[in-house]
Amino acid sequence: MTTSEKSVLIDDLHALEREALAKLATVPDERGLEEWRVEVLGRRGTLAELLRGLATLSPEARPAAGAAGNRVKGALEAAYAERQRGLRAQSRARELEAERIDVTLPGRGVHLGQLHPITQLRREVERVFIRLGFSVVDGPEVEYDRYNFTLLNMPPDHPARDIQDTFYVANVGAPSRAPATAAAAAAGAVSPGDGAAPAGTDPLPPSERGAGGHVPVGVDGGKAKMATPAGGEVLLRTQTSPMQIRVMECQKPPIRVLIPGRVYRNEATDAAHESQFSQVEGLCVDERTTMGDLRGCLTFMIRTLFGSEREVRFRCGYFPFVEPGAEFDMSCHVCGGQGCRTCKGTGWIEIGGCGMVHPIVLENVGLDPSRYSGWAFGFGFERMALIRYGVDDIRLFYGNDLRFLQQLR
Ligand code: PHE
Repeated sequence: MTTSEKSVLIDDLHALEREALAKLATVPDERGLEEWRVEVLGRRGTLAELLRGLATLSPEARPAAGAAGNRVKGALEAAYAERQRGLRAQSRARELEAERIDVTLPGRGVHLGQLHPITQLRREVERVFIRLGFSVVDGPEVEYDRYNFTLLNMPPDHPARDIQDTFYVANVGAPSRAPATAAAAAAGAVSPGDGAAPAGTDPLPPSERGAGGHVPVGVDGGKAKMATPAGGEVLLRTQTSPMQIRVMECQKPPIRVLIPGRVYRNEATDAAHESQFSQVEGLCVDERTTMGDLRGCLTFMIRTLFGSEREVRFRCGYFPFVEPGAEFDMSCHVCGGQGCRTCKGTGWIEIGGCGMVHPIVLENVGLDPSRYSGWAFGFGFERMALIRYGVDDIRLFYGNDLRFLQQLR
């Protein structure tokens, strides 16, 4: 091979280098790059083909051409690697762009639960009376007419029944269970404060309710016993007052109990009425307890819940099971008693009913009215919550709209 042969090979190498580099610059993507690699640097590629020509060169011509071949190969490989890095960076950038997430979007919050406002209020009232030495007690929501009305000095034809129409349970026969079962079923009926049995829970298992015959239970210092089999009509209680009877039937004075729970009335629902709501009853029976004690306890409760400046007043009120009876009001917590929209200009807000346990009621449970006196009060939690939170529609409490409920912590 001649010198000219040698330079032809070197020229070809340079030409290949130029063309290959130019083509490399136009390779659009990694696939194109791979095609370029096979075509130029592959074992059967254009470079390998040229380099095979080295073998045909004379020994003198070979070193220079070999060196040129190595340099071109190195240069092409370096350019290839460089282009590969460039293309990878490009496609990575494209991927990142495609997968872009907006980290400024607000995250999904963790929602903390809270107690229903009526539950909160019930617990606050329970705490007040636990401090005053009261026990918290549950009673059945499905009740005998006798407990709900008759024994509370409202015999069948009493006109006061008319304003407490309710729902009646049909086809209930005489109690059919063994007393032992009743006692066991009722064991959950007494709840010390926020204890095991939630207030308002029917102490009877489902199998014992409804058409099978509801056996009423009483409460005796944590041990329940079966009340006198009562027979008669069965209804959803209209008030928590029947628990006055049940407690007094089973427990000897001194008695201090608080009975929160659900009650029912046949009521058309509107902003101020629901057919299901909750009340709390307080009962104290002792040898020398007076209306002054009643008033003191109610004042303590109202001041704890609504502020130490609140006053409580009694107005004559009629409830068949108390004598004297009163409605109790508190001085308006919005205007301090000046008169405003909340108290309708009167300075006072009606809270509930109260009075001295009627002698006939004491006699109905076998207590001697010449020896014992007692007082009782009752009010509705929903009404109190409306007043406390300045809400104007009772239905909001059971609409389960969290946007509303969460505001009342
Ligand atoms: N139970 C009565 C009612 O629902 C309230 C009340 C309770 C009144 C205790 C006097 C004594 O209206």
